[in-house]
Amino acid sequence: MSAPTTIALIIGSLRKESINRKFAEYIVSQMPDSIKVEEVNIADLPLYNQDYDDTTINSYERVRQQLKAADAVLIVTPEHNRTMPAALKNVIDIASRPYKESVWAHKKVAVVTASPSNYGGINSGLDVRKSMEMLLAQIMTSPEMFLSQATESLNEDGSVSERTQKYLERFINALVAFVGSKSA
Ligand code: FNR
Repeated sequence: MSAPTTIALIIGSLRKESINRKFAEYIVSQMPDSIKVEEVNIADLPLYNQDYDDTTINSYERVRQQLKAADAVLIVTPEHNRTMPAALKNVIDIASRPYKESVWAHKKVAVVTASPSNYGGINSGLDVRKSMEMLLAQIMTSPEMFLSQATESLNEDGSVSERTQKYLERFINALVAFVGSKSA
């Protein structure tokens, strides 16, 4: 039997009650059995410093290997002060180095942002794309997914509302096709 296709999941929020985590969990729950999703823990990563390129930092090695081994990466993230959260930028930087050992080149990457605001965290999503373009990742371009007024898309128990489940359907189908295809 061939190995399952794997998605490494990065959640840009570190907080326990993250709304982005809730949307990520829903998306993951809709993946077919042929796709395995593994979360990349970014909470324990020391702030990237180029001086560390010559040393071994276990948490850096862990995320680099996890991302390298994955067929695709799904990033679900909030926006902090009109850009991506520092913790997300940190893992992007860590996995882009040492020089010429970046894991991002040709990596399939899909991005979702969610925010209680009307703008859906779009600035964060576009900034993630900007970094990914520079790093030569293969970005899933359609459909874009910036979930606005996202707290209203969650039921009291934290589950995703039926309306938003429907809205996410096209993205989820596109993600499965994107991850499953050899090129997109
Ligand atoms: C925010 N928030 C926010 N929202 C937004 O749409 N644009 C922004 O620029 C910011 N800036 C910002 C900065 C900081 C430091 C915090 C803590 C928050 C609000 C943010 O969208 C909201 O807290 C979300 O609930 C965060 O997502 P999680 O953590 O719930 O997934």
